[in-house]
Amino acid sequence: MKKRTLIQALGLAALASASGLSLAQQQPFKIGLILPMTGQQATTGRQIEAATRLWIAQNGDTVAGRKVQVILKDDTSLPDVTRRLAQELVVNDKVDVLAGMGITPSAMSVGPIATQSKTPLVVMAAATSSITEASPYIVRTSFTLPQASVALADWAPKNGLKTVVTLVSDYGPGLDAEKFFKDRFLFNGGKVPETLRVPMRNPDFAPFLQKVRDLKPDALFVFVPSGAGAAVMKQFLERGMDKAGIRLIGTGDVTDDDQLNDMGDGALGVVTSHHYSAAHPSAANKKFVEAFEKANKGLRPNFMAVGGYDGMRVIYEALKKTNGKGGGDALLAGMKGQLFESPRGPMFIDAQTRDVVQNIYLRKVEKKNGQLYNVEFDVIKDVKDPGKSR
Ligand code: PHB
Repeated sequence: MKKRTLIQALGLAALASASGLSLAQQQPFKIGLILPMTGQQATTGRQIEAATRLWIAQNGDTVAGRKVQVILKDDTSLPDVTRRLAQELVVNDKVDVLAGMGITPSAMSVGPIATQSKTPLVVMAAATSSITEASPYIVRTSFTLPQASVALADWAPKNGLKTVVTLVSDYGPGLDAEKFFKDRFLFNGGKVPETLRVPMRNPDFAPFLQKVRDLKPDALFVFVPSGAGAAVMKQFLERGMDKAGIRLIGTGDVTDDDQLNDMGDGALGVVTSHHYSAAHPSAANKKFVEAFEKANKGLRPNFMAVGGYDGMRVIYEALKKTNGKGGGDALLAGMKGQLFESPRGPMFIDAQTRDVVQNIYLRKVEKKNGQLYNVEFDVIKDVKDPGKSR
């Protein structure tokens, strides 16, 4: 440092300590938000960005004396890009927190950066069970596929579905959904004659659905990532699978609130299990949905939006607990154990696993006021990620 700048810096520091704030606290608090804003997962980016903006509009952009600055980067859902952007955000922008992560490979690629730089990484979307094990600095506000899948494997055999074929995207969350649905369904006395896996990128469901038609199970269980559900639904109906007596069931990623209303009446009656529905009947959720739709030209929030909204809360509360000081380890400690009412219902960040504990709901697609919704009809309370006890 040149002498002049050193003197200036010392002067600034003296001024800062006289006003009771450290130099760090006078800096903005930076959140490096990495999302797929373009490409196959763009709806996830759009939903989470809108939710973080809503959170800030409702809660202000100053927390414990620190101005909050969100630096949004588009990773186009390519994990190499996610890793490079995370590196730049940590090294050049000196962000206090990393957040976002639209898909599992993105979250996995940033784990080592979070660990080395001691930067908390708030995973708002990606949902493979093992993500939280990729770094001790990862905290998750989305959900896990084992969490969502097990409930349906308990519901199905009690409701006349004895043989089920599974169809999942061939990567982390799909493999979790397949394993945890199948194991539990077999345990419950069901039969799984076939497990089908479709490519994650640009899948063509047609040949897989043809196979399912030939096998003629009672139901087809599906996991595809947010954004791909409408294509599955369309092809399922076009092939007359429902008329052939095959029911469609799945995790709520399939009847995604971002797309559900455009899927048409063919979606009526589809049963899924998930942690969030825009139709969740609580005052907190009504308020959230109304405000979100108002701020986004009528766009309905989906489960990605709620992961982003709650992720912002977790970050804000952690910063408050440090009295605005921040610091990777202090922020992480402030995130662990948070318990609050989300639009999804009660939620808890397990201090041991840093993963979300939440209610899982069974829902059926129904029409309400002329619109399609996932209407909740049963709940399994306080579900921990079953993937953690492996
Ligand atoms: C993931 O890649 O972890 C993922 C993406 C979209 C979903 C669920 C999981 O809907």
